Amino acid sequence: MNTIIHPSTPTGVNIVPFVSVDNMMRLVLHVGVETFLAELAAYIEDDFRRWERFDKTPRIASHSREGVIELMPTSDGETYGFKYVNGHPKNTKDGLQTVTAFGVLSNVHTGYPALLTEMTILTALRTAATSAVAAKYLAPENADTMAIIGNGAQSEFQAIAFKALLGVDRLRLFDVDPSATAKCAANLEGHGFKIAACRSAQEAVEGAQILTTATADKQYATILTDNMVGSGVHINAVGGDCPGKTELHRDILLRSDIFVEYPPQTRIEGEIQQLDPDHPVEELWQVITGRAAGRTGPSQMTLFDSVGFAIEDFSALRYVADKLSAAPYFDELDMLADPDDPRDLFGMLMRAKGAD
Ligand SMILES: NC(=O)c1ccc[n+]([C@@H]2O[C@H](COP(=O)([O-])OP(=O)(O)OC[C@H]3O[C@@H](n4cnc5c(N)ncnc54)[C@H](O)[C@@H]3O)[C@@H](O)[C@H]2O)c1
Repeated sequence: MNTIIHPSTPTGVNIVPFVSVDNMMRLVLHVGVETFLAELAAYIEDDFRRWERFDKTPRIASHSREGVIELMPTSDGETYGFKYVNGHPKNTKDGLQTVTAFGVLSNVHTGYPALLTEMTILTALRTAATSAVAAKYLAPENADTMAIIGNGAQSEFQAIAFKALLGVDRLRLFDVDPSATAKCAANLEGHGFKIAACRSAQEAVEGAQILTTATADKQYATILTDNMVGSGVHINAVGGDCPGKTELHRDILLRSDIFVEYPPQTRIEGEIQQLDPDHPVEELWQVITGRAAGRTGPSQMTLFDSVGFAIEDFSALRYVADKLSAAPYFDELDMLADPDDPRDLFGMLMRAKGAD
């Protein structure tokens, strides 16, 4: 399932395919959002199956008072990828996104970048696809109702991914800002959901077998308290993804079986930063490969403590690179210097003098 990308795909070794936001939107709409999420989920699942082949490191975070900027690298030995991503919860007040991102895929054998792409939209898609993959193994059988608390940028993607992979078609929405809930409900019209707009998180969780939390606040928040969570539910905790930024009361964690992406990163960033450093957790890749159990019974409370790991972004980059061969939604970026004599970089520069 590995993609070897040829840097010369468009016209020459100096040219790197670049997927702008505009082209990403065209690509996603060309494929169809549900199909895109389902196909991307399959790529993520494939890469989780070959987890041991990847370089792994907790992402490299630069924290400030307002937010965080992170680099997320990984390689499978053939292809290297990284994502630049920020998280600034206060941004939306100024009309800016909480999360923006871009990413690169490179050929390990030459080191040449082979794809540069926007990843703000792609991150929302890959986060939702990963959540749905986890839920396939962890959510109660035949779950059809999901609460989504936090109805911002990620929320519609989560809803559609859970519909595409699990058949969830009933949503209970809550946000402290009712206009976010109205936006989410309006955006999901025509996608086959029965939607209830709720006035509290407590109301939203009633009757839901899956609880998704996707709020943004740079603090220890308590979006769900212990009494709100009945046995047998699956919690998809997306918003707690930074030191000092969590969404669940600690007692919920103590009652749940906890599943994570990459423990060294999740222990720093996830809900489990509230627990002892040796509190037992299962790794999602172990569940997907059948080495660890996922859901074992109807009363088990499962928690996917999602923070977002580099391998998911690698899968997303790999998926987009593969899609571009049939759907060429990219520009050609003159990004790499390519002198006729590889050692004559200076000469190439000087020869450009008279060019314009
Ligand atoms: N786990 C991952 O892989 C991953 C990936 C992307 C984003 N995230 C995180 O997911 C969260 C959501 O991201 P987004 O881009 O949708 O952000 P966003 O700012 O667009 O939306 C967040 C929403 O949460 C609401 N909110 C804040 N506090 C709340 C509360 N107490 N109760 C209910 N609603 C509340 C806000 O009003 C807002 O509408 C962020 O914290 C982000 O960092 C995680």
